[in-house]
Amino acid sequence: MAYREIYSAWKADPERFWLEAASAIDWTKAPERAYFDQGPAGEWFADATGNACWNAVDRHVAAGHGDRVAIIHDSPITGTIRKLSYAELQDRVASLAGALRARGVAKGDRVIIYMPMIPEALEAMLACARIGAVHSVVFGGFAAHELAVRIDDAKPRAIIAASCGLEPGRVVHYKPLLDRAIDEAAHKPDFCVILQREQEVAALIPGRDLDWHGFQAGVTPADCEPVEGNHPAYVLYTSGTTGQPKGVVRHTAGHMVALAWSMRHIYDIGAGDVFWAASDVGWVVGHSYICYGPLLVGATTIVFEGKPVGTPDAGTFWRMIAEHGVKSFFTAPTAIRAVRRDDPEGEHVRRHDLTGLRALFLAGERADPDTITWAERQLGVPVIDHWWQTETGWAIAANPLGVELLPVKKGSPSVPMPGYDVQVLDEAGHPVAPGTLGAIAIKLPLPPGTLPTLWNAEDRFHKAYLSHFPGYYETGDAGYVDEDGYLYIMARTDDVINVAGHRLSTGAMEEVLSAHPAVAECAVIGVADALKGQAPLGLLCLKKGVETAPETVVAEVVRMVRDQIGPVAAFKTACVVDRLPKTRSGKILRATMCKIADGEAFKMPATIDDPAILDEITVALARVGYPEARG
Ligand code: COA
Ligand code: AMP
Repeated sequence: MAYREIYSAWKADPERFWLEAASAIDWTKAPERAYFDQGPAGEWFADATGNACWNAVDRHVAAGHGDRVAIIHDSPITGTIRKLSYAELQDRVASLAGALRARGVAKGDRVIIYMPMIPEALEAMLACARIGAVHSVVFGGFAAHELAVRIDDAKPRAIIAASCGLEPGRVVHYKPLLDRAIDEAAHKPDFCVILQREQEVAALIPGRDLDWHGFQAGVTPADCEPVEGNHPAYVLYTSGTTGQPKGVVRHTAGHMVALAWSMRHIYDIGAGDVFWAASDVGWVVGHSYICYGPLLVGATTIVFEGKPVGTPDAGTFWRMIAEHGVKSFFTAPTAIRAVRRDDPEGEHVRRHDLTGLRALFLAGERADPDTITWAERQLGVPVIDHWWQTETGWAIAANPLGVELLPVKKGSPSVPMPGYDVQVLDEAGHPVAPGTLGAIAIKLPLPPGTLPTLWNAEDRFHKAYLSHFPGYYETGDAGYVDEDGYLYIMARTDDVINVAGHRLSTGAMEEVLSAHPAVAECAVIGVADALKGQAPLGLLCLKKGVETAPETVVAEVVRMVRDQIGPVAAFKTACVVDRLPKTRSGKILRATMCKIADGEAFKMPATIDDPAILDEITVALARVGYPEARG
């Protein structure tokens, strides 16, 4: 069947479409219905029961494929490669799950996972799924405060962490970060499980911290516990407009059905294939396409502890693809830009046999046509941009390689996937004509696998996603559709920025900056960056009478953002200004400042209070190198 037929089949009978898709999953009780009009925005397969770990691991072993490779861990940072078969993975996960259960972790309890890119991170996720515990993975590049905020929101019974993470040339000391976060949080976990890595052995706190191996000794391995279709599989926090992240909830059944569908129809991956998503378990890509998606279909997944460049060079991706026989590869455009910067002529590409590679998938930020063209030319395979969000868990729009490769239009993530009725709306909520820019919204209900609500924050869920355009989910992205139905994603409509494919909140950074005693007022904007897509830039107004030198305040706020949000915020530049441009009603004109920093033409906002301030901003930005600093 071609894409159009599949999309029409879904539209004509969504129930039938999703019940058919559900047959890819092994249920304890199969769903009789797909959609349930319940919960804040509808739920999927609520009448079914099953277990995600069974589907991702045990059933492949039961089918006689226990010796197939489930996980390849390739760490150019430590110079090691390790492979785990499905049978080994099953043993390890059952043992860990048994140990968690023996310590009182039960169905519905939350478990925070704070781990680097090692197979044990996936094992921890799957062990939770095995016993119905709800995992919440926190990205290793966040600081202790961000971890503390998540501990207080998720209220975990246990935290599973590693002693350290490894960044090129730097050991990330996870344990002190964890200890600080637990000190700061009001909620305290019952216990922590620490995986000691050989690069750093952390001091354990008696009575609270347990050794990963020691606490599993002698326990009875746990079997898979069936859970209801609408049982939360996990909570994943993502940046919103404020410093309080949003806890995106994922229900078990829809998650399994949607991911299995996407593996086959979008990525063209099935049992025995090797799939590699070069992301991190702390992001949604890691949840969907390093852990669950590939394992659900019996494929081999790769856990990569390295960077696109510098570990050891810009040939790492190509070495990995050749060595492990990767069929579909998924990364962020930033990573390809970084590789291209170091190896513009693709000399590394030619040193490796990439004949097994079928396609390169890009997501996480806008894929610029120039980067796509370079990658196509170097790799000789389709380069497929696809668009999605933490909230949706899988692609809203893509070019469905497993169905048919539609003509690629560079700059567009192609067409909506079944389940997504994507509309471009004007401010009043009316659909606009093709080619006209508007807010991108999805007609409710959202498909299986997307968020049914926010963790403990139903009101916020309504306000953030459902209230602006009644009957729709508001994506927070703006763009347009062309005459052929291809989508173009142009910008965010909120205070979220995308730095190296990492989603960050300028509002959260502003909260940190405002806490500096010398800062009276501030704004953080996302400015164009040739490598990372966007970079945060701070503008600070100091309090009257402050004697601290502006450079000192700037250095201090840079350090504060790193300490409180984390190195991943990549907040490196700020400048001091006398005043910030505002509308007459007092709203800071961030978009206008972005245009000045990016060297783009802009229209003088009609509501501006004092146009002269824009000249001052232009001078201040020039002092820190903008617009030239774009790269
Ligand atoms: N744990 C601890 N620190 C981390 C981290 C982690 N898991 N991931 C990143 N950091 C740190 C980095 O060490 C860096 O710290 P520094 O300021 O001390 O150098 C900082 O966070 C910024 O990291 P990053 O944005 O990754 O920039 P970089 O300069 O280290 O590398 C690229 C640049 C382009 C190579 C890198 O951004 C990259 O690989 N991008 C692809 C991103 C991606 O796959 N995103 C997933 C979306 S699908
Ligand atoms: P995250 O939740 O971290 O996956 O970030 C989601 C946001 O990243 C989206 O709302 C978009 O703003 C942006 N994004 C992701 N993929 C794409 C893409 N293919 N093209 C343009 N923007 C994208």
